[in-house]
Amino acid sequence: MTITPGIKTVIPAAGLGTRFLPATKAMPKEMLPVVDKPAIQYVVEEAVAAGSDDVLVIVGRNKNALANHFDRVAELEHTLEKKGDAAKLEKVMAASRLADVHFVRQGDPLGLGHAVLRAKKHVGNETFAVLLGDDLIDARDPLLTRMIDVSRAQSATVIALMEVEPDQIHLYGCAAVDETPESDVVKVKYLVEKPSASDAPSNLAVIGRYVLKPEIFEVLEQTQPGKGGEIQLTDALEALAADESLAGPVLGVIFRGRRYDTGDRLDYIKSNVLLALDREDLGPALESWLKELTGRLSA
Ligand code: UTP
Repeated sequence: MTITPGIKTVIPAAGLGTRFLPATKAMPKEMLPVVDKPAIQYVVEEAVAAGSDDVLVIVGRNKNALANHFDRVAELEHTLEKKGDAAKLEKVMAASRLADVHFVRQGDPLGLGHAVLRAKKHVGNETFAVLLGDDLIDARDPLLTRMIDVSRAQSATVIALMEVEPDQIHLYGCAAVDETPESDVVKVKYLVEKPSASDAPSNLAVIGRYVLKPEIFEVLEQTQPGKGGEIQLTDALEALAADESLAGPVLGVIFRGRRYDTGDRLDYIKSNVLLALDREDLGPALESWLKELTGRLSA
């Protein structure tokens, strides 16, 4: 495993989060707690674990909650210090110590592609990672490191793909692919947004991790609003896949590890249960309660 120092990470967090209203009325959905940490903190931890030390968060109207989370909170730290509560103090300080976290405003939420384009100045002429807070990847299954390695080795744009059941593919972008000599790497021919099972060219769904080359910015600048009147990152990736002379190939890394979907309410609840079951402090008690509940439900 090669740790690549210095790759910058972009986390778009300026969406409206309408599926989680009213929780997201005054708070971005990336701040929703998963067990006891906001989703975005898991994502920043993942970036840091893959060797990224510079994170740019694209923020919308509810910037403050995000910015405050990655900042120091002198009063709270002081109170916990006085109480001698080292464990809680560590929890409070962890987020502010993780990485250099920067913020840029999107203005109007004109789509994921538009949000990524707002990172152009900060990223400069370098390959960078984009991580969505909707997908949490288990820290034990390092996907981003693999994607960065593949991008470096083949000078490629790399997207993350996951095999899903045919009846689930209509919820995702879907990739038409060719095999490569590496079993977890495919070449992306084209992408189809949310196809029906019968129209889907594969069972490979696009999930929220991307390693992008700086050429994507020029493509995004030319990308017209697509589905929902938004500038779609998928449309720009589609343009790159269709013309390799723009920025080399678009490859997909097939992820077979543990992923927690937090973008949808039911999956969000499931993610909380699964991650809590894995925790030493909560797992055993939750498991016995779940067993009791299952017994009650099936009675
Ligand atoms: P989604 O479409 O899932 O986010 O965008 P949303 O619009 O906030 O969610 P719903 O459907 O209304 O509940 C995927 C990611 O892109 C970001 C979102 O914050 C999310 O992480 N995004 C989307 C932006 O940063 N800006 C945008 O204009 C759109």
